Amino acid sequence: MSRITLTHLQKLKRKKEKIACLTAYDATFARLVEQAATEVILVGDSLGMVVQGQDTTLPVTLQNMAYHCQMVHRGTEKAFIVADLPFMTYATPEQTLESAGFLMREGQAQMVKVEGGTWLVDTIRLLVERGVPVCGHVGLTPQSVHQLGGYKVQGREISEAQRVRKEAHDLQEAGISMLVLECVPRDLAGQISQELTIPVIGIGAGADCDGQVLVLYDMLGMFDKSPSFVKNFLQDADSIPQALSDYVQAVKSGEFPSIEQSF
Ligand code: KIV
Repeated sequence: MSRITLTHLQKLKRKKEKIACLTAYDATFARLVEQAATEVILVGDSLGMVVQGQDTTLPVTLQNMAYHCQMVHRGTEKAFIVADLPFMTYATPEQTLESAGFLMREGQAQMVKVEGGTWLVDTIRLLVERGVPVCGHVGLTPQSVHQLGGYKVQGREISEAQRVRKEAHDLQEAGISMLVLECVPRDLAGQISQELTIPVIGIGAGADCDGQVLVLYDMLGMFDKSPSFVKNFLQDADSIPQALSDYVQAVKSGEFPSIEQSF
């Protein structure tokens, strides 16, 4: 069985079919997530918090990421696998090339994700020129939690919203093939999703994005510090596979996130 490609995800955007994405960090959960018809699995550095028990994502290393990516790859056949580049592994374009090469070679990721705005333009150009597909991540960027002063909604003020929108456009122009928009008002996320030609995957960004992502342990109600935009899909399901399948269906139908799960 061949893996889902970027071309397929692009086609889903064109057909206005929502893309379902979840995080996973090991083979068994990744297999269940894939069996629920989730197109994209993100091996997120959220593993620092939900798997390692750290307070933030900052202590996660490239080796940690490659280890978890290998497991997710081993547990799946079809899902498109995106891996986070962890904090300070993409501080310069050259360092990013090394780090991304490592995650794609050792972890078998199909795409790497970087958090940040316009400062990443040269880095993204270099990666794309060298054949590395890149996912951007703007809005709330958890690796900058100390700079942002906490996990807060971004883009509520007009000037902030303009900045987030410009960052999204700059990153697309630089060559990203997918964008994660985290914790931004629904209207702003809807506008950005409409303007960009690449798939925009929201988390705490309302229902008008091209797809949705959640941290697996949040949507299964396993993590005690889940954000307000999360829905516990295990609460009304009788098994984990059922909860995963309910999530995918709710994303596809546009039922999730509701207004209450948006900003
Ligand atoms: O690390 C992660 O899981 C993420 C998602 C929250 C988008 O980046």
